[in-house]
Amino acid sequence: MIRLFDLRKTYKTRHETLEVLKGITLTVPDRKFVMLLGESGSGKSTLANILGLLDTPTSGEYWLDEVPIHTLTSKARTDLRREKVSFVFQSFNLIPTMTARENIELPLGYRGVPKEERGERVEAVLREVGLSARAAHVPSELSGGEQQRIAIARALVVEPSLLIADEPTGNLDKSTTKAVMETLTEAGRGKTVFMITHNEELTAYADEVYALRAGLLA
Ligand SMILES: Nc1ncnc2c1ncn2[C@@H]1O[C@H](COP(=O)(O)OP(=O)(O)O)[C@@H](O)[C@H]1O
Ligand SMILES: [Mg+2]
Repeated sequence: MIRLFDLRKTYKTRHETLEVLKGITLTVPDRKFVMLLGESGSGKSTLANILGLLDTPTSGEYWLDEVPIHTLTSKARTDLRREKVSFVFQSFNLIPTMTARENIELPLGYRGVPKEERGERVEAVLREVGLSARAAHVPSELSGGEQQRIAIARALVVEPSLLIADEPTGNLDKSTTKAVMETLTEAGRGKTVFMITHNEELTAYADEVYALRAGLLA
């Protein structure tokens, strides 16, 4: 469960102080698919990066699964991120010289999963995203939608409890967007998914929808 209380984020640059989040209070129960809408520059990625433990708020409280994140050291926060959170971004960020299978296996290596276990887990998520037949392709041999579905598989193979998807369909056309949304909702079932989008049509896939406007949630 995610709970935010009066969360604020201010960026200080040399010339100005920019208040991006002005007091966000939010509860997200486990295993919900939550969407966040908002204009460009409204602070969506800032909020997503705080939720995903990549960034810290200026003030306020963030409780993740009863852990007071706002009190953690940066090391403890990083450890918890590795244990619980995965990300999917607009740019798929696959390694171009590696096959789909190798890209998906990579985070298992980083997290010290024994080599004998990795293959089976990779094949299982490849099946979940419906791309077993593309496992030996490198990213340039995959369509944009397929690349994003491989990125979703890579995010899910570590079994995160929270998946953050920051404009995952931002680079995709309409029919590909549909395939990616179906993959995200089906393969992501059982996880808390926090997705950012510009596309109001996609809110049909969500359990809960919020909009970020003038630093506040509506
Ligand atoms: N590290 C930073 N330093 C200063 N300003 C930033 C930084 N990151 C984001 N911003 C500013 O904060 C605002 C919100 O950014 P962002 O969260 O990326 O918005 P969105 O994802 O909704 O487009 C923007 O005006 C952006 O320029
Ligand atoms: Mg953004």
